[in-house]
Amino acid sequence: MAKGIKFLGTGSYVPDFIVTNDMFAEFLETSDEWISTRTGIKSRPINTDKPNYYMGVQAAKKAIEQSEISPLDIGLIIVTTVNPDFYFPSMSCLIQHNIGADNAMAIDVNAACTGFIYGVDMARRYLYTDDIDYVLVVSSEMLSNQVNYADRSTAVLFGDGAAATIIARDENKLYSSFLGAKGEDGTLLSCRVKYVNTSPYKNEEAIEEFLGDKFKDINPDFIHMNGREVYKFAVDALPNSVSKACEKVGISPDDIDVLIPHQANLRIIEKAVSNLKIPMEKVFVNLEKHGNTSSASIPTCLDEMNRKGLLKENQKLCFVGFGGGFTYGAVIVEL
Ligand code: ACO
Repeated sequence: MAKGIKFLGTGSYVPDFIVTNDMFAEFLETSDEWISTRTGIKSRPINTDKPNYYMGVQAAKKAIEQSEISPLDIGLIIVTTVNPDFYFPSMSCLIQHNIGADNAMAIDVNAACTGFIYGVDMARRYLYTDDIDYVLVVSSEMLSNQVNYADRSTAVLFGDGAAATIIARDENKLYSSFLGAKGEDGTLLSCRVKYVNTSPYKNEEAIEEFLGDKFKDINPDFIHMNGREVYKFAVDALPNSVSKACEKVGISPDDIDVLIPHQANLRIIEKAVSNLKIPMEKVFVNLEKHGNTSSASIPTCLDEMNRKGLLKENQKLCFVGFGGGFTYGAVIVEL
């Protein structure tokens, strides 16, 4: 038995306020030409006046509406994010309350930009091992909270947004996944929590000493990235994940009809895809107008494709991503 899944509905939320490359050039030493040629990004939406969870709620409501289920039918809500509004309550609890999913468990997952892929895989496992019929996966990201707008090498890359999907079982459809992590390189792409300590018993120096040199250059609060090392990791992890997920179900990357990669950077996507020998016509890309929205990037593409009527019965769809941690993974779903 294939034990696959189906997407009953999708939704996304894109903030209205759009920051173009030229707008960055007004306060940073950068240009549209540099950003476009290095990344493929032209503009990105930024959420200026709402908390992160608001975006997740809007995306979730659209996915539920399209699914034609009641919020009360949802048994599990998985929210993926790297910038929750609160340490607790979790984003998933905030969204659960705001959509009226009174019968749902609610958990947040942080697998950085690979979050949606981890979320889908977790959803499937719950669907086949518990009394849960519908899982809501929401990826809601507000990178503008974590980006240092004085740092041209990261500020230009990211956008804000959220996307959601309702997932159910479909026992006759093919499914495969390959997920992994490489924590040893975690500091190459990181964002440190800065606690305000008032405890008279806390020894900050001892904590810093314990963390050691590897962490000492990481500025608290902001995204810290070694772009070149992240690039090298990504162009290896993406094709490897797709190949491994294919191998597990005895298909080849050629058999994939649509590839939705994490929308970090067009050069990374083109390189990864050429390593897999998949033609770019099979690859969905929307980063030109969204930037990198971390775990929201893949489900935002999924919703765009769905609403444009580009998803067809029996297509083999592959999501593939990489992210801070490092994390990586691919999921293959037969529609
Ligand atoms: N405008 C103008 N110049 C810039 C900018 C900018 N926005 N950003 C960096 N530069 C400069 C640097 O300061 C450097 O100048 P220097 O040579 O005088 O020191 C020069 O451009 C080259 O910098 P590099 O970082 O080496 O540029 P590179 O060619 O590697 O491109 C990039 C940078 C696009 C970030 C690339 O490393 C990359 O694609 N990395 C992958 C990282 C990525 O996409 N991360 C996304 C987030 S992670 C995730 O989604 C999981």
